[in-house]
Amino acid sequence: MNVLHICANPKPAEQSVSKQLSIAFISTLIEKNPDIEINNVDLYQDPPPFMSYAGFRGLWQPVFDPTYKPAKDEVKATEYATRHAEMFNAADVLVLTMPMWNFGPPAIMKAWIDQVLTPGKTFEFGLTEAGGIDIRPLHKVRRVILLVSSGGSYTEGDPRDALTPMIRSLFGFIGIQDVTIAWADGQTALLYGDHEERKQTAIDAATETAEDIAAEAEPAQA
Ligand SMILES: Cc1cc2nc3c(=O)[nH]c(=O)nc-3n(C[C@H](O)[C@H](O)[C@H](O)COP(=O)(O)O)c2cc1C
Repeated sequence: MNVLHICANPKPAEQSVSKQLSIAFISTLIEKNPDIEINNVDLYQDPPPFMSYAGFRGLWQPVFDPTYKPAKDEVKATEYATRHAEMFNAADVLVLTMPMWNFGPPAIMKAWIDQVLTPGKTFEFGLTEAGGIDIRPLHKVRRVILLVSSGGSYTEGDPRDALTPMIRSLFGFIGIQDVTIAWADGQTALLYGDHEERKQTAIDAATETAEDIAAEAEPAQA
């Protein structure tokens, strides 16, 4: 089993609740099944470009014009997408670590998504028999795990939360319906006296999810 972990948080782990969730998650995976291949990507070390015009043409123009031949700068502008789509397509499980910023994901995570969820890279458009358009995955990711921390307290379905519905919609669009969320909400210490308990509950949820995934994977070699 191959697990791709994408982390979008500039803080050191001891100051980041979401990174602490990911440490619990990844260390449990390693402990329970050392044969699982884990690919850790820190987006602050390997930052995605914002989508440029050349990138847009290089990535999306083939959908609209099958005769399109990319110019040199357009090929160059797709290099990040190509490299990261390869990592994505090699994965069985995707883990996303991030804080909630302004009710959504950090911009660097959104920029990564704009690069990787692109046609010809991780999915393609097909025609249904009825003449409609469908989405065909080119990847084999079957589960997404979202490890998130927020200052405020929300439950899923809260209209202020633009993050968790976005992640569900985005990955649902490319055929991944199985999204598990470990969410340390209420992390503003001044407002939530029980923020430590909330964090621990989320760490426990992340650990349990990692145990499930380790159990699903091929047993570790003796
Ligand atoms: C730029 C910025 C925007 C934020 N926006 C929100 C927000 O919209 N809702 C919220 O509940 N908390 C918000 N917060 C608080 C963080 O989500 C909270 O501190 C969280 O624990 C950060 O995760 P981390 O400890 O992993 O960095 C924001 C923090 C920053 C720095």
